[in-house]
Amino acid sequence: MRKLLLLVWMILMSLGAVAQKMSEKSLKNGYISNLIKRMTLEEKAGQLWQVAGSFATGPDGNNLGSLKAIAEGKVGSVLNVSGVKNIRKYQEAAMQSRLKIPLIFGMDVIHGFRTGFPIPLAEASSFDQQEIQKGARWTGTEAAASGLNWTFAPMVDVGWDARWGRVMEGAGEDPFYGSQVAVARVKGLQGDDLASTNTIMACVKHFAGYGAPIAGKDYNSVDMSMGHFANFYMPPYKAAAEAGAATFMSAFNDFNNIPSTANNFLLRSLLKEKWNFNGFIVSDWGSVGELINHRVAGNKKEAANIAIMAGLDMEMVSNCYIENLVDLVKEKKVSINVVDDAVRRILNKKYELGLFEDPFRYCDENREKEFVESAKSREVARSLSERSIVLLKKQENILPFSKNLKSVALIGPLAKSKKDMCGAWSTANVNNVITLYDAMKNRGVQVNYAQGYDLESNQIVNYDSTLLAIEKSDVVVVAIGERASESGEMRSKTDISIALQQQELVSKLVKTGKPVVVLLMCGRPVIFNEVRDKASNILLTWWLGSEAGPAICNVLWGDYNPSGKLPMTFPRNMGQIPINYQYKSTGRPYPGDWSAKYIDSPVEPAYPFGYGLSYTTFKYSNLKVISDNLNKGTHAKISVDVTNTGQYDGEEVVQLYIRDEVASVTRPIKELKGFQKINLKKGNTQTVVFDITDNQLGFYDNNINYIVEKGDFTVMVGGDSENLSMKKFNLK
Ligand code: NOJ
Repeated sequence: MRKLLLLVWMILMSLGAVAQKMSEKSLKNGYISNLIKRMTLEEKAGQLWQVAGSFATGPDGNNLGSLKAIAEGKVGSVLNVSGVKNIRKYQEAAMQSRLKIPLIFGMDVIHGFRTGFPIPLAEASSFDQQEIQKGARWTGTEAAASGLNWTFAPMVDVGWDARWGRVMEGAGEDPFYGSQVAVARVKGLQGDDLASTNTIMACVKHFAGYGAPIAGKDYNSVDMSMGHFANFYMPPYKAAAEAGAATFMSAFNDFNNIPSTANNFLLRSLLKEKWNFNGFIVSDWGSVGELINHRVAGNKKEAANIAIMAGLDMEMVSNCYIENLVDLVKEKKVSINVVDDAVRRILNKKYELGLFEDPFRYCDENREKEFVESAKSREVARSLSERSIVLLKKQENILPFSKNLKSVALIGPLAKSKKDMCGAWSTANVNNVITLYDAMKNRGVQVNYAQGYDLESNQIVNYDSTLLAIEKSDVVVVAIGERASESGEMRSKTDISIALQQQELVSKLVKTGKPVVVLLMCGRPVIFNEVRDKASNILLTWWLGSEAGPAICNVLWGDYNPSGKLPMTFPRNMGQIPINYQYKSTGRPYPGDWSAKYIDSPVEPAYPFGYGLSYTTFKYSNLKVISDNLNKGTHAKISVDVTNTGQYDGEEVVQLYIRDEVASVTRPIKELKGFQKINLKKGNTQTVVFDITDNQLGFYDNNINYIVEKGDFTVMVGGDSENLSMKKFNLK
């Protein structure tokens, strides 16, 4: 009886919740419809315009930060203004407009706000969605406390080409893993309720295919078959839309001959219609105006016309919409319904952010003081930084350092650089970065620093003082890599090798006979064959942000046992690029004489996707396919025993890959379809179980329909994408 009452109560409660949601929705719809009815055509065009704040001007040299335009109701959103005081000033201008429609404030808060978090590619190395979500949560909290309500993140573009400098901003090469990270980031930024004063809207970018520019040149054309797009590049966008991302950004590039900004297929048919995306789409910086450079529009009016018709709701910075939409509607080239739909989408989000209720709800100086660069943010950043570090090589018994270690020769300017630790696309407070040098000193160890090489010229400098530092020390830690300005937007390279003199320096250090640990600080996969050969201990630390120094020290001294895995394949040479682990079999599969390979280089990468060591070791055994007692919707369970066989407690990312043996279209030789990060005490064994459902077995056909075909599959489980145990399994 009790159970029955409980059930009835639960049903009533959930019906109540549904009814409340519905009535909230109809309240919102009523409010927005009423507002749209009262708007002039000019005011509608204004809502579709985003201007850049004080420090920036648009491509036309127009001072777009104009408070006057805002007060006239001609602006819907402002980017690149932050800080409660500044934001209040702009919002006050909006409150002078006839209808007092509040502004949305957006900014590129990419990896932490004033507290610098690891670059996104580094965070992705953690293979820890909870930590990534938590990082995004604190990033959102800080940004919202500073008055912002929108970030242009996450970038979910899949990338196989490390020449493209923007790989630093994504989650790497894998569509399945990229989708998990995209969801974690969207949820972290947006929380459960956009109206909370500690959440901000996410903007999924760059739709679509921006991560596959031809020849790795940023902004270059993108051209791929639908099947290729759907299976390898589309999933993270879709996952992010399904996770409730409030906004999307169209990409700079053209996609199958139509610029994304005016691509009806991408924006309208796929995103808005097929995926039912009900948020709004913003252009990338000036990209409506750039339709003229793409040569698909002869002038700004034509550019505005094709972009709005394709479904692009808000124009960032260039002013094609504001100058031409009114005429385009009057001339009946654009229907008012199209404009109203775009306006409605934007106003809906303003409503959901709670801005109509209180336009200044994000403007609270006390909250700003409390949350921006808070101790808690730094703690979350440090934890994520530790988890982002990947141990690439460990041969001698040097790592982790003993707690009794007396002295370290610390070599390389990156060990002292605050700016480079922030990485590209950073909003972090550079002054508050703790460098490796500072963190080591704080540990109480004697630090004998020498510059080693010059970061600008990359030449070895003052080798005598380097030798002196080494003589006085028990171990050598050398930091090599890239400056922050070498990866990121507009930072494509034809050679991603670590500067040769830096590599030579490492060889010289190794020759001294002192134990050497190499730290690789960079924003993309790099090539460093000489170091790979000569050095016996290599840690990839990427660019870790404000807590870089403490996090690296915690790993060096074993307070945190490294657990990161590579989210992107590291090539051996430039000729292997683009490279990824999930290539297709081809009609001439490698190995073999006349097969898909090179005559002057191995096809194997330097380090495969999913690779990363620990101070301990893990053994995989007892891989089983279980086909009885299955949950509904599960076709099989895969179980494997993982044993910590080393001397330390540690974490392992257990990875599940699947190959579809025979299909109606060509399929990759393996695809990541599951992973679990486990924590194992030394000597312990854990049985890890994966459910196999349609999600793991299907694929998109060339018309973007998801299908699952019966037949044989091979499941593979292991600690990276190459060292795997296999079992066959049949889907009847
Ligand atoms: C251009 C970049 O491509 C985009 O990612 C960014 O959000 C905008 N600029 C705004 O800064």
